[in-house]
Amino acid sequence: MRLLVIGRSGQVATALGRLGHAAGHDVRCLGHDGIDILSRDAIDAAIAQFNPDALINAAAYTAVDKAEIERDAAFSLNMRAPELLAAAAASHNIAFIHISTDYVFDGAKPRAYEPGDAICPINVYGESKAAGEVAVFTANPEAVILRTSWVYSETGVNFVKRMIELGAERDELRIVDDQTGNPTFADDISQACLSIAASSDVRAGKAGGIYHVAGRNDVTWHGFARAIFDETRQRGLRTPARVIPITTDQYPTPAQRPKNSRLDCTSTESRFGIVSHPWQDRLKACLDRLLTDARS
Ligand SMILES: NC(=O)c1ccc[n+]([C@@H]2O[C@H](COP(=O)([O-])OP(=O)(O)OC[C@H]3O[C@@H](n4cnc5c(N)ncnc54)[C@H](OP(=O)(O)O)[C@@H]3O)[C@@H](O)[C@H]2O)c1
Repeated sequence: MRLLVIGRSGQVATALGRLGHAAGHDVRCLGHDGIDILSRDAIDAAIAQFNPDALINAAAYTAVDKAEIERDAAFSLNMRAPELLAAAAASHNIAFIHISTDYVFDGAKPRAYEPGDAICPINVYGESKAAGEVAVFTANPEAVILRTSWVYSETGVNFVKRMIELGAERDELRIVDDQTGNPTFADDISQACLSIAASSDVRAGKAGGIYHVAGRNDVTWHGFARAIFDETRQRGLRTPARVIPITTDQYPTPAQRPKNSRLDCTSTESRFGIVSHPWQDRLKACLDRLLTDARS
C-alpha cells in the first residue's frame, strides 16, 4: 500500500513509519515542516503528488493542560485540520483514518466506554477532539475514527518516559490512583491503522465509523507507575523507594481528567480481527526498545 501519514516525529506517526516500512508499504510521513494541514490546497497537492491508497491522520494538538489557554490552537489542529483532511480524502476517493481519544468522554460511566456511547468532554482538548470527530464524519461519512487512550512509546512525551526520568532523581513519587484507563503502546494503534487501511471494506468505503483500540486490562496511573518501576528495576535502573497513591484532588491540573478512561474494543476485534494485547506485555516490549535505544 501507499500510505500518507500526517505527523512525523509524534509517537503514533513514528511507529506508523517504522511498522509500515517493515511491512513493505510505501509510507510518507509529513509533520509540521512537510505540510500545512490548515490549507486544503496543500493537502490536495500532497495527495496528488504521492497518490496514496489511504490517508492517516496521526497529527494533533496533544498538550492537554495547555489547551485550556490555547483553545483556538487546539481547535485548529483537532477540528479544522481533520475536517480538511477528511474532505480531501473523500474527494480523492481514498480511505481516511483519523485518531481520536478517550478524553471525548466525561469518565462517569461505571464500565468501559463503547464506541456508540454519548460523548461529553470535560476539558478543552477533549472538546476539540470531540468536535473533530463530528467534523470528520460530516466531511466524510466513510471515514474511520480510531479512539485510543494513555499512549506511550519509546519516542515523544509520555508517562512511561516521565516515570523513568523522575525515578532516576526522586526517592518518593505521589501518583494519582483514582483515574483508570488502558495504557496503549503506540505500535498497537499503528498496527491497527495498517490493518484497517488494508481492509477491503474500508477501501470500498463500507466500514466507516468509530472504533476503539487500546491495551487489554485496565489500571490506574499509580498501578501503571508501579509496573513501570518493577520492570525498570529488573533492568538495572534506579527507581524511587516509595510510590504513594494519591487522589486527583491532591494533584490539581489546569485540565480536568476523566476518572474512567477505559475503552471497550470488542467491535474492533469483531469487525477487523484486531486483538488488544495486555498492556503488561506491551510495556515490556516498549521498555526493551527504549532501553536498548538508550544504550546504543
Ligand atoms: N498521547 C496520548 O496519550 C493520546 C491518548 C489518546 C489519544 N491520542 C491521540 O493519538 C494521536 C497521536 O498522538 P501522539 O501521542 O502520537 O501525539 P504526539 O506525540 O504529541 O505527536 C503529535 C503529532 O502531531 C503532529 N503535528 C502537530 N501539529 C502539526 C501540524 N501543524 N502539521 C503537521 N503535523 C502536526 C506532530 O508533527 P511533527 O512530527 O512535525 O512534530 C506530531 O507528529 C492524536 O490524535 C492524539 O489526540 C493520544
